[in-house]
Amino acid sequence: MVVRHNLTLAELYPHWNCDEDDRLICRAIYSETQDIKTFAFTPAEPRQFNFAPGQFLTFEFPIDGETVNRSYTISSTPTRPFSITITVKRSPGGVVSNWLHDHLQVGDVVRAVGPLGEFSTWAHPAEKRLFLSGGVGATPMMSYVRRDFDMGEDFDTLYVHFARTPKDIVFRRELESMAIRRMNLKIAYVAEQMENERFWSGLRGRFSPHLFATVAEDFLEREIFCCGPAPFMAAVRGHLAASGFDMRRYHEESFDFDALPQAEQEAAPPPPDATVRSFEITFAKSNRTVECDENTSILAAARLAGMRLPASCAKGLCGTCKSRKLEGTVEMNHAGGIRQREVDAGMILLCCSTPRSDIVIDR
Ligand code: FES
Repeated sequence: MVVRHNLTLAELYPHWNCDEDDRLICRAIYSETQDIKTFAFTPAEPRQFNFAPGQFLTFEFPIDGETVNRSYTISSTPTRPFSITITVKRSPGGVVSNWLHDHLQVGDVVRAVGPLGEFSTWAHPAEKRLFLSGGVGATPMMSYVRRDFDMGEDFDTLYVHFARTPKDIVFRRELESMAIRRMNLKIAYVAEQMENERFWSGLRGRFSPHLFATVAEDFLEREIFCCGPAPFMAAVRGHLAASGFDMRRYHEESFDFDALPQAEQEAAPPPPDATVRSFEITFAKSNRTVECDENTSILAAARLAGMRLPASCAKGLCGTCKSRKLEGTVEMNHAGGIRQREVDAGMILLCCSTPRSDIVIDR
């Protein structure tokens, strides 16, 4: 029997809206390399994800009785909107990445907010692009390439990926199968070490001006998107700036939880100012109290005092620093990384909250 109806696809399958239902079901898990896995999720009810390639979701994971927030870039493409994937590298000592690799099972439910972020080719259109990644920084690049492939958009794209060894090159077979069909998609891999690889005809080494000139000789003509570990991106940035590259055409993103945002690394305690009020911030679980003036974010004050708290974007976007406020009043200027119902429930983003009284945080 053929059932006919007049509903549009959008009516049959509305967009996923995390404010209505933020549950995502893990539907598949597969290994990409020896320490990278991809996790596929769908909404609890059939819904379409509406996102730009390069955007991320901030997940809530239930780990050891705590809720831990982490942002992961979507590695799938918006042209296949009924599920999303994230691709995660197991990092030594990494609480969330190890939990995902060891404990998340198909059928498990997690919660997520998003999609968020502006690290997208849609925000910076260009005919000639360079996608430059290190390690698992390939995830947004893969979303760009998959999307362009599905849409039949044959931009002049140079995809350059730096990996530890040839076996650590993520998405390799899929990239090469797309490149066979798209003349304008060129791929170059650089491996730092060989380990047991006997047949490697690609380049070898870490990022250096010489290697970069070898794989991307026309980089000055390209819009550059870069993602990877913080030292990798710092090396790229430094080289591009020194080469006279127009840095307005350079875009980067990283969720490197070991790297403090640049501004915080360089921040020094401001000189005392009698007109600026200062408050005590108590972290109840850590049993630490730090001073924080009304112009300084709680995250910055905690880090200046030597505390290590999870954070990534430091601008109220990713949600990684979300914490429960037990007492006190803050002023919070976020950029979408927290929902109103979470604010109503006493949550704040430490990176964009400044104190207006003494504060107690549940950390
Ligand atoms: S670190 Fe991203 S929202 Fe606070």
